[in-house]
Amino acid sequence: MKILVTGGTGYIGSHTTAELLKKGYDVVVVDNLNNSEEWILDRIEQVAGSRPYFSEIDCCNLSDLKKLFLLHSDIKAVIHFAAHKAVGESVSNPLGYYKNNLLSLVNILECMQETKVANIVFSSSCTVYGEPQYLPVDENHPVQKATSPYGNTKQICEQILQDAVASSNLKGIALRYFNPVGAHETALLGELPRGVPNNLVPFITQTAIGKRKELSIYGNDYDTPDGTCIRDYIHVVDLADAHVVAIERLLKNNNKTAYEVFNIGTGTGNSVLEAVNAFEKVSGQKLNYKFVPRRDGDITKVYADTTLANNELGWKAKHTLEEALASSWKWEKQLSSKK
Ligand code: UD1
Repeated sequence: MKILVTGGTGYIGSHTTAELLKKGYDVVVVDNLNNSEEWILDRIEQVAGSRPYFSEIDCCNLSDLKKLFLLHSDIKAVIHFAAHKAVGESVSNPLGYYKNNLLSLVNILECMQETKVANIVFSSSCTVYGEPQYLPVDENHPVQKATSPYGNTKQICEQILQDAVASSNLKGIALRYFNPVGAHETALLGELPRGVPNNLVPFITQTAIGKRKELSIYGNDYDTPDGTCIRDYIHVVDLADAHVVAIERLLKNNNKTAYEVFNIGTGTGNSVLEAVNAFEKVSGQKLNYKFVPRRDGDITKVYADTTLANNELGWKAKHTLEEALASSWKWEKQLSSKK
């Protein structure tokens, strides 16, 4: 059974590709290597014991994509990860974000319709909920006005997918991820941020290894027990597993409706300080950090109600925050020992 994974050399895509290969699927990876490295394919092969097909294609290039779908005419499903994902960058380059994130999805859907590929899993985000009106946030929570062009692309892409599903025999699942963290237990796969990391965990590990002087914690005056923001940190391997389960649900026609949405988180909220303390505990490293003013656009707290994913997908996060942070630390040490 052949599955197309766009963005398959990226952070979540590489872990998902490895899990699919381990389960015996044939995987075609498409990536423009805009935010990833080709050697990740070797790592995927080391982890999974087999190698995906690879095409260096930009999903915005419709004719390249059409050729790929013709070449692999036995593709049965698509997992679409390929997208830009930096919130700050999306504010300074909104058109680049809209063009890349929307066009790539539209092109994929067009190719799927033409070649009668009926199943797609899409990478969405808890960012669609904005500042939640209640917690934990479930899938019925209203989607609120996006606070960044990045967040808006996720909302619009969900809408595009929903409309495409309604007008054809396509079936789609949008997975709304909370905060993906961690790395593969082998330390062969993990997050590879380009330049200064925007996200908390790579910033923590780069500070601990000495690549960054200190971590800035954005705000300690939030309305939370310790004053720092609360997030639901989900291990990337659990997240990869959720994609496998979702794609199998579609392939086996177990979906209840043609378009479904699931929260993918742990259900537990942790503050930034709790994450820092947990990191210090598992790594044995003292982390240099200071409090600085709040970061624009950050929400106070969000964590998932995962009942629907637990009951419908039969999926539940298995890893703790400590395990995730320990794996990120192992990955960081492996990266720096290579240089
Ligand atoms: C953001 C996006 C989310 C996206 C995720 C991964 C929004 C609202 N959120 O999540 O959709 O999936 O990135 O790309 O669009 N922090 C620090 N210091 C740092 C970095 C972060 O204190 O150097 C704090 C932040 O203030 C926040 C927490 O750590 O409270 C997590 O931040 P981050 O890892 O950037 O993820 P989000 O902003 O939650």
